[in-house]
Amino acid sequence: MSFVIVVTRAIHPDALSLLNQHGTVRLWDQPHPIPRGVLQDWLKDADAALTMLTDRIDDGVLNDASSLRVVSNMAVGYDNLDLVALTHHGILATNTPDVLTEATAELTWALILALLRGLVPSREALLAGEWTSWSPDAFLGTEVSGKTLGIVGLGRIGLAVARRSPAFNVRAVALESGKAVPHASPFPRLPRREFLESADIVSLHVPLTASTRHLVNREWLDAMKSGSFLVNTARGAIVDELALKEALDSGKLAGAALDVFNEEPINGHHPLASHPRVLATPHIGSATYETRRQMALRAAGNLVTALSGKRPPDLLNGEAWPGRTQRFLNDG
Ligand code: GLV
Ligand code: GLV
Repeated sequence: MSFVIVVTRAIHPDALSLLNQHGTVRLWDQPHPIPRGVLQDWLKDADAALTMLTDRIDDGVLNDASSLRVVSNMAVGYDNLDLVALTHHGILATNTPDVLTEATAELTWALILALLRGLVPSREALLAGEWTSWSPDAFLGTEVSGKTLGIVGLGRIGLAVARRSPAFNVRAVALESGKAVPHASPFPRLPRREFLESADIVSLHVPLTASTRHLVNREWLDAMKSGSFLVNTARGAIVDELALKEALDSGKLAGAALDVFNEEPINGHHPLASHPRVLATPHIGSATYETRRQMALRAAGNLVTALSGKRPPDLLNGEAWPGRTQRFLNDG
């Protein structure tokens, strides 16, 4: 018996070879996301799917997917997966943690340094022929050294960002949360008010959930330090973009570096992307050759483990596991 494995984008060939050893791969290799209707159709006879964060996996696409056993998402974030629906259908869901932690922490620091030092506007000025002489007051930015970096979400990525801060002589503090910390952390945890009063730069590293949607709203932005900076490499919808634009317009915030947006993709006409105080990048947190290969391999590994009837390492919906075991047995 050969499994049918749907893969919704062209991923690293090493991961595709692994999948090819375990079934027949049906690959959407176009340079844009698979249309929802096509995905729904392909899932009808699929045993497994390797999906991207651009694929919305909910009841609508799962309804006719009667043989589907696993949806392996090639991302650490999984707000595109309706876990309730997946569990209801008895389908396992997995993500790809760990492998993109360092890449995302690197991008966060690249954004912090570029934003505060005005790297992009300086380059644009040079290209426009505006570098006419060295000048004591030209192209001035804000010094990073000596600042306080406020980390929202001290998970793997938040911790990797915080750990890099001593190298830049930056003090890292974390927002206190109700969650237990899975690691001993040397970084002080501050209640929200104190946190926002002390952070010169606020960097977001929480997943998008019902409780983090628009976490950064008007009230949050009002409570931030005047002239402070916001960095978002997590998910766009954590920020109320309208409120952010107002805070940038008024100069309350000195700048924002945004790698993620409420609706993606955007272009240069987006009011935040084109804002003079904003450094915008196209969702590239995990975009290194090394990490994208690792993500593809990790996603493929989760998928084939699930197909072989074993519990995949990055299982997100443990509730679906016992039911699936039964169904695996019944399926033979
Ligand atoms: C990227 O945004 C991811 O969640 O992996
Ligand atoms: C998840 O978002 C992480 O921090 O790894």
